[in-house]
Amino acid sequence: MLTIAVSKGRIYDDALPLLAEAGIVPIDDPKTSRKLILRTTKDDVQLVIIRATDVPTFVEYGAADMGIAGKDVLLEHGAESLYEPLDLGIAKCRLMTATPVNAPEITGRIRVATKYVKTAQRYFADIGVQAEIIKLYGAMELAPLVGLADCIVDVVDTGNTLKANGLEPKELIAHISSRLVVNKASMKMKHQIIQALLDNFEKTLTTREKEV
Ligand code: ATP
Ligand code: PRP
Repeated sequence: MLTIAVSKGRIYDDALPLLAEAGIVPIDDPKTSRKLILRTTKDDVQLVIIRATDVPTFVEYGAADMGIAGKDVLLEHGAESLYEPLDLGIAKCRLMTATPVNAPEITGRIRVATKYVKTAQRYFADIGVQAEIIKLYGAMELAPLVGLADCIVDVVDTGNTLKANGLEPKELIAHISSRLVVNKASMKMKHQIIQALLDNFEKTLTTREKEV
């Protein structure tokens, strides 16, 4: 049995067509079913439906052989313990800093609200800015509006969420897309089925590129 970890939401929606091209179609729909393990039309492949941030953990410990995770989540988790053989080019966005529109330049130590604590720490250390990082689990955009932080680090796509909250994107930290990650032991033990899937995904992605 090959287990693939996927999160509900946008990654699942974008991953479904890719999986379907490889002949993997879940039998239940996670939007209507409460099941966390989904059998698929391939008898030897199942999906586990978990939180986006938990995907690297499941794959690292071998609870899933493969997974699909955003690069933002992988940067934060630290991806040394996983293989990351494919950029799937889905759920694209940018990891950015953002501040209130027309905020004055901050000199000295800044307060940064984010769920990407390690990535933010690394980023501000790299650019030589002293930063106090405040961990939040969501609604980061609120932090500067209520005086909790000077700046946030979050993913930005259209910029609408920032705009709606009087913030503007500032510095780009990383371009983000979802990656296929593979457990190192599984890559050896289940090489044949994993390689066949990788080849299949790669073929679909190449065809998609040609179509654009
Ligand atoms: P969790 O459910 O664990 O809280 P989440 O809310 O970040 O995680 P999603 O919103 O489904 O889960 O995001 C999954 C991934 O999609 C993120 O890790 C990121 O790589 C990407 N992503 C997040 N927001 C956007 C966006 N607005 N546009 C495109 N991609 C995005
Ligand atoms: C994500 C992210 C931003 C927003 C950015 O939130 O946390 O708030 O998307 O996208 P935009 O630039 O197109 O507005 P999401 O919609 O996933 O909601 P959640 O993470 O708060 O559940």
